[in-house]
Amino acid sequence: MNSVQPYSPLEFAQMCVHRHITPDAVCVDATCGNGHDTMFLLSNIGGKGCVIGFDIQQQAIERTQRLCSSRPNYARLTLIHGSHDDIQNHLAARGIHSFRILMMNCGYLPHAEKSITTTAHTTEAMLLQAVSMLEHGGCITVVVYRGHEGASEEADAVIAFASMLSKKDFTCARYQPLGGAAAPECVVIARREE
Ligand SMILES: C[S@@+](CC[C@H](N)C(=O)[O-])C[C@H]1O[C@@H](n2cnc3c(N)ncnc32)[C@H](O)[C@@H]1O
Repeated sequence: MNSVQPYSPLEFAQMCVHRHITPDAVCVDATCGNGHDTMFLLSNIGGKGCVIGFDIQQQAIERTQRLCSSRPNYARLTLIHGSHDDIQNHLAARGIHSFRILMMNCGYLPHAEKSITTTAHTTEAMLLQAVSMLEHGGCITVVVYRGHEGASEEADAVIAFASMLSKKDFTCARYQPLGGAAAPECVVIARREE
């Protein structure tokens, strides 16, 4: 018998992006890791859209490249081996001053060094720049965890950041399947239409 499961926070993030993405969207994957979100974004843009992916680990950049290289929109992908906390400068250097979608999956690269993780400090710095670059009608999704060192501090920082944004300009929400306070969750920041 098939059982219907609730959406995972990662699936929920993709659902939100689906609602906001347009064929010509400029999209950012703030943490490419194994490349799944990057590939999802590439699959959902048209020939005029583009995806920019960040990761501080070379092996994540390579894994993402391998995963995405057979996608039709691969030519629309730029991978940056660098930290997302300098997102504004990295994008400006490529002539990009705004984007429609940003996905971020916090934590560490699976099957790699687990001590290399996103942090509250760099994630907050990235979000501060990202909201100023987010187009009207666009959205940011951040999947946060609480299981590894520093994860709860980061999750709390993301939730606090989203909570203090102007309600006039942004709609923010949290999605957490029931299963304990330590379960991962998805935080969504959507910028209202003009
Ligand atoms: C959970 S993984 C991302 C998974 C990925 N979204 C996927 O679909 O496979 C988190 C990634 O964040 C990267 N990371 C950590 N700090 C970062 C930073 N400051 N800037 C960019 N990437 C970072 C890690 O190297 C790791 O690959």
